[in-house]
Amino acid sequence: MATSTLELSGLNFNLTEEHQAVQEAARDFAQTELLPGVIERDNAAKFPAEQVRRMGELGFLGMMVSPDYGGGGMDTVSYVIAMEEISKVDASCSVVMSVNNSLVCWGLEQFGNEEQKQKYLTKLAAGEVIGAFCLSEPEAGSDATSQHTTAIDQGDYYSLNGTKNWITNGGSASTYLVMAQTDVAKKHRGINCLIVEKGQDGFVVGKKEDKMGIRASDTHSLMFTDVKVPKENRIGDDGFGFKFAMSTLNGGRIGIAAQALGIASGAYELALKYAQERQSFGKKIFDHQAIQFKLAEMATKIEAARLLVYKAARLKDEHKDYVQAAAMAKLYASDVAMWATTEAVQVHGGYGYVKEYHVERLMRDAKITQIYEGTSEIQKLVIARELLK
Ligand code: CAA
Repeated sequence: MATSTLELSGLNFNLTEEHQAVQEAARDFAQTELLPGVIERDNAAKFPAEQVRRMGELGFLGMMVSPDYGGGGMDTVSYVIAMEEISKVDASCSVVMSVNNSLVCWGLEQFGNEEQKQKYLTKLAAGEVIGAFCLSEPEAGSDATSQHTTAIDQGDYYSLNGTKNWITNGGSASTYLVMAQTDVAKKHRGINCLIVEKGQDGFVVGKKEDKMGIRASDTHSLMFTDVKVPKENRIGDDGFGFKFAMSTLNGGRIGIAAQALGIASGAYELALKYAQERQSFGKKIFDHQAIQFKLAEMATKIEAARLLVYKAARLKDEHKDYVQAAAMAKLYASDVAMWATTEAVQVHGGYGYVKEYHVERLMRDAKITQIYEGTSEIQKLVIARELLK
C-alpha cells in the first residue's frame, strides 16, 4: 500500500530497522489500546489519562530525550513515524505526545541547565508527568511577541501575572513553560520563559475548552496572580524567552506536520478499505472511476506530505537548518489532512457523516493542524522570510 512506504532510497531516506520497529510498536499500540474507546472519549471530551500513562510507559512521551535524562535517545525520524501511526487513530493522544516531546522536553533538554533537566526533564521524559507550553494569550496568538503576561523581577524570584489561552495539557500537566514579559522596553528581547509548577499559589487552571476536534485533549486557559517563580526556574539568559519559544516551535511544527500526516493517512486507509467493501450500481465503489480518482489523489498528496515531513525531520537530525522545511511540512501536511479527511467522508457517503465510521472525527481533528503551533498563514510568513536569506 502506497502510504506504508518505508524505503525512500535515492533521496537518502533509507529507514533503519529501528525505524521500522518504532512504526510497528506505535501501530500496534494505536490499534490495540487507542482505537477501543476513541469515539467515546471524543464524545465525552474525556482526557485519555490511562492512554497517556501507557504512552509514557512505552516511551512515547520522551522519544528524543537522551537516556541520561530517562528518554528514548531516538532521532526525529523515529518520532515522526510514531506520531503518524498514533495520529491515524487518536489525534487527541498524539497532541499530548507532540507537545510533551517537541515543545516541552526538547526545549528543556536543549536550553535548560543541568539542575532543571534533573528536576523536570527526567520525569517528563519518562511520562511520569506531562508538560505544557504556554505562549498564546487572549490577545497574542499569531502575534506572539505581544505578550501581556508579566514576570516582574523581584530579586530572587519573578512575580508572574497574566492569562494564557488555549493551552494544550492545560489541566493535566504538572510542569508549565510560561512565556512572560519582564522588560517591556526591550520588546520581545525582554521576554523570559519560566518553569511553573502546578499548585503554586496564585496559579489557577481555567475552564476546559469545548472544542470542535481533538476533543479528548485537554485545552485550558491559565491564570497567574502574583505567582512567585524562583529565578532558578528561568530558562536561559535574561530575555531569552522569545528565542526559546520560536526555536522550540520550529521543531514542534515537525511534530504537528506528522500529526496532520497521520490524520490524513488514517482517513485514506479507512476510505480505501471502505471502497473495497461498499457496493453500488452492482459493483464495489472502488471500481467506479470517480472513487479511484479520489483515492489516487489522496495517496499522492499524502506521499508528498510524508516526504516533506521526513525531510524536515532528517534535516533536524543532521543539525542542518530546518526552519523552512518544518514550516513547509506543516503548511502542506495540514492542508492535505483537511482535504483528504473531507474526501474520506465523501467516499463513505452517508456513513461518513456518522461517528461510528471514524472519518468525521478525523475531519474535525484535521482543522486544528492548520491553526496551532502557527497558523498556515504564519507558516507562509516563515517560509517567505527564509526565501530571502
Ligand atoms: N526561529 C528562531 N527565531 C525566530 C523565528 C524562528 N522561526 N522567528 C522569529 N525568530 C526570532 C527573530 O530572529 C527575532 O529575534 P531577534 O530580534 O533577536 O533577531 C525575534 O524572533 C522576533 O522575530 P520577528 O521580528 O520576525 O517578529 P515578528 O513579530 O515580525 O514575527 C512571528 C514573529 C514569526 C510571527 C512569531 O510571532 C510567530 O511564530 N507567531 C506564531 C506563534 C505560534 O506559533 N504560536 C503557537 C502557540 S503554541 C501551540 O500552539 C502549542 C499547542 O498547544 C499545540
